[in-house]
Amino acid sequence: MFIPIVNKPSDTLRPSSSGISANDWAVLANFWYPVAIAAQIGSEPVAVKLLDVELVLYRCTEGRVTAALDACPHRHVRLSAGTVVDGEIICPFHGLRFNGAGRCTHVPALGPRSNLPPSYRVRTFEVRERHGLMWTCIGDNPAADLPSLPLMSQTAIEELNYLNPEIWPVSAARQVENFIDIAHLPYVHAATLGGDQAAPIKPGRIEQQADSVVMRANYIETSHGVRHCTYTYRVVLPFAIEFKVEVDDDPDFLLESCDLPSPISAHQCKVFQILRYRGTLEDREGLARGLAAVNQEDIVVLSAMTVPDLPLDQHHEIHLPVDNISNAYRGRLRDLGLGR
Ligand code: FES
Ligand SMILES: [Fe+2]
Repeated sequence: MFIPIVNKPSDTLRPSSSGISANDWAVLANFWYPVAIAAQIGSEPVAVKLLDVELVLYRCTEGRVTAALDACPHRHVRLSAGTVVDGEIICPFHGLRFNGAGRCTHVPALGPRSNLPPSYRVRTFEVRERHGLMWTCIGDNPAADLPSLPLMSQTAIEELNYLNPEIWPVSAARQVENFIDIAHLPYVHAATLGGDQAAPIKPGRIEQQADSVVMRANYIETSHGVRHCTYTYRVVLPFAIEFKVEVDDDPDFLLESCDLPSPISAHQCKVFQILRYRGTLEDREGLARGLAAVNQEDIVVLSAMTVPDLPLDQHHEIHLPVDNISNAYRGRLRDLGLGR
């Protein structure tokens, strides 16, 4: 009913209701995550959620995009329910108006007045546009840069395909693990990728890099005839993947993609995927449809997962030799200070 009386409001952004521990939240908040497809931010404000923090994105002056807390500092109405006029967002309740830096520039109830107190402001966060996505970081000590995705950087935006971002009912870390898990392919993706359920799967070859874990693994797809593939996964900590498919007897074939689960909350992530390909597949739309079908198969099985958090203690689950990539990934998450 009431917010209790305290000496001073809490200065952490992490809502007390968050299912992400205070330790993990503090670590994760300093990384950059995609929050929207750039082309989808138009003249309307867009509500997004990152690490349980509600944000509003709006285009301010010169087309730049700002991320602000999605709560008016006057009476906590969602700013995303308001409008954007001349690069400023206007709250729908009493019309307070905020510029791209979050400063209040107009209070209708005060009439025209230029000396509004500096405390009349909404907290904003830097937004960067890269690979056709809008990225933000809400931590106090933001990582110097976004995750490096060289495969996407080599490509003009027009050549990239964006799947519709979908909300998955698991933690971003579980989504990453699912993407790099080759042993599930002949089971979960029998209808889309195929494979031989009876054939043993060899563990991939792992290489540790400063910002990432890389694995190369072989897989025989059987859905488009028999295709001997080499899959290369590069997992950039904490939650970004670059993925490349090469087909052994078709040197012209190349499929590259990015899997970028943005952590909405402890048990939900919004997955941005970008595709780039050349080779024998007929058209991008067909490929995008195929990958959307693969995603749906994953969502079905992940919805049946009884523990949506990722255990960072190795004793909580049993591990197969082919889980070497996910165990290497879990080790790197521990090194970041997560799970303590
Ligand atoms: S609640 Fe936003 S202007 Fe009053
Ligand atoms: Fe999968």
